[in-house]
Amino acid sequence: MKRFTIAIALSAFLSSPAIADEDMSARVMKYRSAIKSLVMSLKSELKTALRAGGAVNALSVCHTKAESISSKVSKQVGFSVKRTSLKPRNSNNAPDDWERAVLEQFEQRKAQGENPKRLEFVEVVENNGQRQVRYMKAIPTRGVCLRCHGSEIAPKVMNKLQELYPNDKATGFKVGDLRGAFSITETLSK
Ligand code: HEC
Repeated sequence: MKRFTIAIALSAFLSSPAIADEDMSARVMKYRSAIKSLVMSLKSELKTALRAGGAVNALSVCHTKAESISSKVSKQVGFSVKRTSLKPRNSNNAPDDWERAVLEQFEQRKAQGENPKRLEFVEVVENNGQRQVRYMKAIPTRGVCLRCHGSEIAPKVMNKLQELYPNDKATGFKVGDLRGAFSITETLSK
């Protein structure tokens, strides 16, 4: 299967025999905009929750709403949009084999000096006899994320995290680290 690495050269995927070049570019635009919708929904939910009751309250909101927000956006756009990470907080967000390989590729590309904000990858894969376009975009850690994903988390927040996510792996991040990635799967009709 041919691999395309958008961040290195947009033209890299233009030689795809599986999908015409202009079609693939249009898809990638569509995926980026679906991710923007998800980011906006998550952000507004997080802001409201933080304002209403600080980080401890916001945790409960994320806990109950993050997955349903992803499902809602996925329904709206007609393909699956979710978040994943090599160090997930919610084990439902653990990567599958394809996602893990891409997350590792992002870590390598970042180590080689690529801008984490621009890390993307798209590939056409065969899954149980179905053709799928799979796309990922990296999520860098920002300052505001450290309250719940950093290495100096307030004890109250830490207690709540341990209660909600006994297998939490998503702490100890620094600004600029890759917190994870958005992951899109679109099944192509034959
Ligand atoms: C108020 C606390 C809080 C803040 C602030 C916060 N997060 Fe999270 N984050 C969570 C919780 C809780 C989850 C688990 C959600 C779930 O159950 O699906 C999570 C999950 C995630 C996931 C999904 C993968 C996983 O680990 O399960 C990503 C990616 C993520 N956060 C990135 C960020 C980024 C980037 C920022 C900053 C822009 C941020 N978070 C800020 C609490 C927070």
